[in-house]
Amino acid sequence: MILLLFGCTLLWTCIRSEYSFDVRLADVPLDHFSTLNKTFKLRYLVNGQHHVKGGPVFLYTGNEGNIFMFAQNTGFIFDIAPVFNALIVFVEHRYYGESLPFGNSTKSEDFRFLTTSQALADFVYVIDELRRTYFGTVLGNDTLPFVAFGGSYGGMLAAWLRMKYPHVVIGAIASSAPIWYSKDMVPCEKFYEIITGVFDKFGTTQCTDIVKGSWEILRNVTKIAAGRTFLTVSWKMCSSLENATEDDADKLIDWLSDIYVNMAMTNYPYPTDFIVPLPAYPVKTFCDKLISLNSTDPKSTLENLGKALEVYTNYTGIIKCHSFNSTSRNLGESIWDYQACTELVMPMCSTDKDMFETQPWDQKKYSQECFKRFGVSSRRPDWMVLQYGGQNLKYFSNIVFSNGMMDPWSCGGVKTNISSSIWAVSIADGVHHSDLRNADAADTNYVIEARKFHVMAIRKWLNIF
Ligand SMILES: *[C@@H]1O[C@H](CO)[C@@H](O)[C@H](O)[C@H]1NC(C)=O
Ligand SMILES: *[C@@H]1O[C@H](CO)[C@@H](O)[C@H](O)[C@H]1NC(C)=O
Ligand SMILES: *[C@@H]1O[C@H](CO)[C@@H](O)[C@H](O)[C@H]1NC(C)=O
Ligand SMILES: *[C@@H]1O[C@H](CO)[C@@H](O)[C@H](O)[C@H]1NC(C)=O
Ligand SMILES: *[C@@H]1O[C@H](CO)[C@@H](O)[C@H](O)[C@H]1NC(C)=O
Ligand SMILES: *[C@@H]1O[C@H](CO)[C@@H](O)[C@H](O)[C@H]1NC(C)=O
Ligand SMILES: *[C@@H]1O[C@H](CO)[C@@H](O)[C@H](O)[C@H]1NC(C)=O
Ligand SMILES: *[C@@H]1O[C@H](CO)[C@@H](O)[C@H](O)[C@H]1NC(C)=O
Ligand SMILES: *[C@@H]1O[C@H](CO)[C@@H](O)[C@H](O)[C@H]1NC(C)=O
Repeated sequence: MILLLFGCTLLWTCIRSEYSFDVRLADVPLDHFSTLNKTFKLRYLVNGQHHVKGGPVFLYTGNEGNIFMFAQNTGFIFDIAPVFNALIVFVEHRYYGESLPFGNSTKSEDFRFLTTSQALADFVYVIDELRRTYFGTVLGNDTLPFVAFGGSYGGMLAAWLRMKYPHVVIGAIASSAPIWYSKDMVPCEKFYEIITGVFDKFGTTQCTDIVKGSWEILRNVTKIAAGRTFLTVSWKMCSSLENATEDDADKLIDWLSDIYVNMAMTNYPYPTDFIVPLPAYPVKTFCDKLISLNSTDPKSTLENLGKALEVYTNYTGIIKCHSFNSTSRNLGESIWDYQACTELVMPMCSTDKDMFETQPWDQKKYSQECFKRFGVSSRRPDWMVLQYGGQNLKYFSNIVFSNGMMDPWSCGGVKTNISSSIWAVSIADGVHHSDLRNADAADTNYVIEARKFHVMAIRKWLNIF
């Protein structure tokens, strides 16, 4: 699915890396909530370059992917660490990257320890280990406060860490964290509407019209053998679609939708290498190309779409062929799907009003597919609300929720101030956690102001004025 990628899988990514780390492994209980006596190795990264004794620890609560990817795309923490003499730590999320309790097992039985509450407890373990091994003090020593940071699902975890373990982290910066994205809290069509708005704004409605019209063409073309062969060649697919079924056509369409979602989420005003390497304003680049190519008939529309999509799929020009089973190098997409099936069910639907293929939200069908794939059914859909309080955030404190209003995930975010210590910051032209990226000459005032707000909040929490 979507939400939300590294290691040095490609040599050139390693060379471009700006931030270096010591890689450490913590022995963490596989099950924090039973007597099961088993541990696994959880990876975390430490950078002490700006740390001065007595300074705080800025700890990033890892998302659904290889932790290096997030560590290389959260430059804000490095930008402000010198001001606070902070130690920087990025903790990988269990079951992702190299923190794999069961190796590469795909047996759904082995996923049973993959829950948000286990992940939060892992973070607490690492914090304890850091206190004991890095600082030689014990947990509970308030002289070395930890501040949690996270973006997207990582932002949800940062907020929840503060909510559930307020004695462990003094506050949390939760950027683009859709903690309110659950049943009945967000209209299911909102997500794709925001994306369509981004394509309208950066690419014009001519672009969204072409995309909107392409679904029916794709459905038609994939129904006939000659069409499938044409698509295989035209879109340079790795494996032939010759014998593709309707299920495969669904997957192809999901792949395309995910690409549009990812382009909107990462429509940064400068080139980035986050989910995949992209130019500045990838949505604009994609639409400009699509419009510049003349689409006169369904066939040329698909050909041109294939070419324009290379902005996303082949920006580096090193991709030999496409396979539609993944839209990123380093996100644990199928593992995330397990989480989205069990705990983090986020209803989404598309209607006539957006550029996506019309698709209602069908809880029953979703559950059936989850069962087919993982042999699991979702927990009660309101478990998230029961567990983390839903809209009742007034009982908590010291969290900043920031949202880019051009980010589809903002529809599930906290966008109004809740109390004198639960703040919301809106970044009018921001996309997915733009504020957590390093400062750039192309940054707009909104992003700059959001970062200033974060610094102000952290100073307040740490009592530094
Ligand atoms: C847990 O397992 C380790 C090694 O297998 C053993 O040394 C230890 O005594 C066990 N602890 C408990 C509480 O069973
Ligand atoms: C998992 O698979 C990847 C890629 O095939 C491999 O590089 C890695 O070593 C495997 N990890 C484990 C723990 O087996
Ligand atoms: C807390 O940390 C300070 C500074 O490192 C140290 O002097 C003190 O002994 C620690 N207190 C406890 C209870 O560990
Ligand atoms: C798809 O096929 C149907 C039925 O053959 C046809 O009516 C429709 O015009 C086709 N749509 C496109 C966009 O080619
Ligand atoms: C498609 O199916 C036919 C008949 O079973 C087979 O000969 C052909 O090799 C298949 N093509 C691919 C790409 O698998
Ligand atoms: C697009 O079509 C117009 C008119 O048919 C033609 O003048 C123009 O050269 C074409 N552009 C491209 C890029 O093929
Ligand atoms: C990727 O780009 C390169 C350079 O333009 C091109 O040779 C190659 O065919 C492209 N690959 C795909 C899958 O489109
Ligand atoms: C995706 O497809 C490619 C080519 O068809 C294949 O090599 C790769 O193993 C697939 N990856 C996954 C995760 O299924
Ligand atoms: C929340 O309060 C802060 C501090 O007073 C303010 O700067 C910010 O604009 C408010 N956010 C919203 C969304 O009103």
